Amino acid sequence: MSASDVPRVAEIFRDAFNDVYQRRGFGPVVTDHTVGAVIADSYRDLDPGGCVVVTVDGEVAGSGFLHPRGATGGAGPITIAPAYQGRGAGRALMDEVVRRSDQAGVASLRLIQDSFNEVAYALYAVTGFVGREILLRASFRSRGAPRAPAGVRRVHRADLGRVRAIENDLLGIDRPQDHALLHRLGEIFLAPDGMLVRIVRGNVTVLGPLVATSLDGALELVAAGTTDLPPHSDVRLLVPARCDDLLRALLVDYGLEIHSLCTYMVRGSWNGVRGYYVPTLFPESG
Ligand SMILES: CC(C)(COP(=O)(O)OP(=O)(O)OC[C@H]1O[C@@H](n2cnc3c(N)ncnc32)[C@H](O)[C@@H]1OP(=O)(O)O)[C@@H](O)C(=O)NCCC(=O)NCCS
Repeated sequence: MSASDVPRVAEIFRDAFNDVYQRRGFGPVVTDHTVGAVIADSYRDLDPGGCVVVTVDGEVAGSGFLHPRGATGGAGPITIAPAYQGRGAGRALMDEVVRRSDQAGVASLRLIQDSFNEVAYALYAVTGFVGREILLRASFRSRGAPRAPAGVRRVHRADLGRVRAIENDLLGIDRPQDHALLHRLGEIFLAPDGMLVRIVRGNVTVLGPLVATSLDGALELVAAGTTDLPPHSDVRLLVPARCDDLLRALLVDYGLEIHSLCTYMVRGSWNGVRGYYVPTLFPESG
């Protein structure tokens, strides 16, 4: 992918996701047309060897992104322009993404797909991915609670080593470059047994990654990441179905609304996840 491909990549990203979401009865999911370009430019900086386009008759038909992080890695987003779908372009793109992943020595490659998207599931299954976890695409409205829990504080640059150690220890993912990016774009909260990233853009807040060893730790981080938001902010996150106690607490205490299901897929080794892990779609490196 070169810089001159980015405008077309962004257009395809918007059209491909809006098309499939609208065909499944949801509203358009990419309403800001700059999002695709922001993602592509960030990933061209972060993972220059992992950004690829697929062409058909010389025209850019789609794009994909690989994020190698040593023994683990992430893939996505993967998009093919609606007019080119169903003709093998997605397969050619994924074959190249997994070839580069193997070449980089990634033993465990992860991605998140919308469970309603049977074409994407089939494409990933045929290129070696296995569905390992169910994630609930969900949101709640912030309530402007008065105080953040005492044991949680905002991370300073000097704490990034601690954040790296927590993820490494609980998830086996080593990604200091992502923490530096997230520290620049959002805020990182640190608890004795975990950490949480939040990115606030206007009235929308995205939570994650969240990593914690206990339910109390996970809930304290969610509280710390939402208490100072204006009431009724739209707070979005991917809740692992496996963490049923966290899910119940969010349903009961926060009025969580579940919108759809996603599948966390892994190609290669998989030992499960210890503790509470809320993954994110940006950066898609784990
Ligand atoms: C998902 C997407 C990338 C697939 O790209 P595509 O170019 O349409 O896919 P292809 O034509 O290469 O087909 C993919 C494979 O799935 C198979 N397939 C498709 N639908 C299937 C089904 N219902 N059951 C079984 N296999 C199916 C195809 O036969 C093909 O397998 P093959 O290579 O062994 O023949 C594309 O549809 C897209 O961009 N969708 C919208 C955005 C999106 O959801 N991206 C994924 C985000 S996680």
